[in-house]
Amino acid sequence: MTETHVEAPSLYPPDPEFAANANATEALYDEAEADRLAFWAKQANRLSWDTPFTEVLDWSDAPFAKWFVGGRLNVAYNCVDRHVEAGIGDRVAIHWEGEPVGDARDITYSELKDEVCRAANTLAGLGLKSGDRVAIYMPMVPEAIVAMLACARLGAMHSVVFAGFSASALRARIEDAQATLVITSDGQFRRGKAAPLKAGVDEAIESLGDDNPVRHVLVVRRTGMDVPWTDGRDVWWDDTVSNASAEHTPEAFDSEQPLFLLYTSGTTGKPKGIMHTSGGYLTQASYTHLNVFDIKPESDVYWCTADIGWVTGHTYIAYGPLSNGATQVVYEGTPASPDEHRHFQVIEKYGVTVYYTAPTVVRTFMKWGRELAFGHDLSSLRLLGSVGEPINPEAWRWYRLVFGGDQTPVVDTWWQTETGAAMISPLPGVTTCKPGSAMRPLPGISAKIVDDDGNELAPSPDYGEHVTGYLVLDKPWPSMLRGIWGDEERFRETYWSRFAEQGWYFAGDGARYGTNGEIWVLGRIDDVMNVSGHRISTAEVESALVGHAGVAEAAVVGATDEHTGQGICAFVILKAHHADMSRDQMIDELRAEVAREISPIAKPREIHVVPELPKTRSGKIMRRLLRDVAEGRELGDTSTLLDPSVFEAIRASK
Ligand code: WT7
Repeated sequence: MTETHVEAPSLYPPDPEFAANANATEALYDEAEADRLAFWAKQANRLSWDTPFTEVLDWSDAPFAKWFVGGRLNVAYNCVDRHVEAGIGDRVAIHWEGEPVGDARDITYSELKDEVCRAANTLAGLGLKSGDRVAIYMPMVPEAIVAMLACARLGAMHSVVFAGFSASALRARIEDAQATLVITSDGQFRRGKAAPLKAGVDEAIESLGDDNPVRHVLVVRRTGMDVPWTDGRDVWWDDTVSNASAEHTPEAFDSEQPLFLLYTSGTTGKPKGIMHTSGGYLTQASYTHLNVFDIKPESDVYWCTADIGWVTGHTYIAYGPLSNGATQVVYEGTPASPDEHRHFQVIEKYGVTVYYTAPTVVRTFMKWGRELAFGHDLSSLRLLGSVGEPINPEAWRWYRLVFGGDQTPVVDTWWQTETGAAMISPLPGVTTCKPGSAMRPLPGISAKIVDDDGNELAPSPDYGEHVTGYLVLDKPWPSMLRGIWGDEERFRETYWSRFAEQGWYFAGDGARYGTNGEIWVLGRIDDVMNVSGHRISTAEVESALVGHAGVAEAAVVGATDEHTGQGICAFVILKAHHADMSRDQMIDELRAEVAREISPIAKPREIHVVPELPKTRSGKIMRRLLRDVAEGRELGDTSTLLDPSVFEAIRASK
């Protein structure tokens, strides 16, 4: 195999033809630099405001921001009604592709508006008021997006709970937010089988006992399976929404009206309800979607493969694309349903032009092999995006080559549930990219990499010794979180205490500057190891390992070492065609590869060849559990693992 050591360019300048038609230009940076608040005011004015704002930012109560003060708007009106009023009601908003092949539906903006109005009328009829919380526990069906927009239309907050989460996770989120309504479906299709969902809702509500805040459960019929039923409390979507009036006048709400809660895990066990509000969130969602993905609403077919249970699904499926009047694909299933060709078939079927996915998906495709793509026409693709974790240069190049015909821009977008929208990313047509780097803050955004004392780091060489620092956001941004639900202290402590003196937001990520001052995000700071006083990122070692032609996936953790402080412990999945090489030979080769790619200091102390890695349902590797294995400890909480049985195999490899 020659994949690893082919001469690959390290700089990817924009294609002149792409640049000539790009939405963004270099001038965007200058404009934001010259007057940041005026720049954001201009972006906010791409939206329709019922009452114009009188002040762009009020930061006097930091870290609680108010953006577009005095302005009033309706988020759902901005995502649907205004497009219909502008005469594009016949444009497809959603090409919905169900998991079962052939189960598909196109929904125009007019149809979406009618359905959102019907749902809003139904929710109001069930007693829902502005400020109330609604838990949405649904698969990737159009009704899930309709439900979110119906909440927004009424000024109620949605709390979408990923449908792969357990009843107890749902219960905790219902309880924390005191949700009065749950919107769900009878069940969901997962890898060809119908699995129950409504039953889990009942279990969650039952376990809340006398403290149950839920008054109604609204149920979409998706699989046709039998469901447990409580008369008076439970109602079918078909019997209510489908018969409701499609006339609904949207009410304008304050720019700071809470829009949603989204729970995310932190360093402690209790999930944090991250709160986002309306005007600022929608402004940045819309602006970044338009410029980072170069969206031409009249011609593009955009596809974000995320689930609405994550922030990516909120910002880059629900609010960003719809606020821009774009056409998008929403797909219900996994990349391997019914087989590994599915994503390629969906791209071909709809002529997808912009594809946004996660590095873990890219590496899965790498594992399956590029031959899979060869039988498909992917020429409609003109831009690729990545999000969720650092994308290793090898995967970046493979993605561009196999999906993008070695021609399309690849935008590596860094952001978080907390930031609400993309923050650090190339601008396609403008930025010269380095594979593996998210490059620089978007126009209007300010970020720095600093040391323990808050001093900004200097650029470091692309290869050799790196200095790692803390990634901070030193200026407020429109889509920033407005707090953690019900826990002001935890909000201050988690994000604003590390650099309290300077008033900066600490993102929890380690990063370094490259030779051109571009940003390399290295992952969460607790994923940075300390070996003999050298800081080494788990992501960097993993990148070196998966850069080897024989490795499909790798996870690296630091384990206590009496000599060096921490020792590097690696878990790797090998590609099938390398199985013929002896295990010991392979391990020796991999250690040498890491020494070559980073430094001998980064050479793993141990490498375990494993059949599978422990992952959460969202695809994040659970390093905490691998650390337990590496340290020979009892396993910690495995409840969020996709497949708890992987540990037997991993243990056997030790
Ligand atoms: C954390 C946030 C943003 C939506 C999905 C994840 C990591 C995210 C990148 C990237 C390097 C990245 C960071 C961040 N991350 N995107 N492009 N390069 N790291 O949202 O679950 O809130 O996770 O994901 O560590 O802090 P999330």
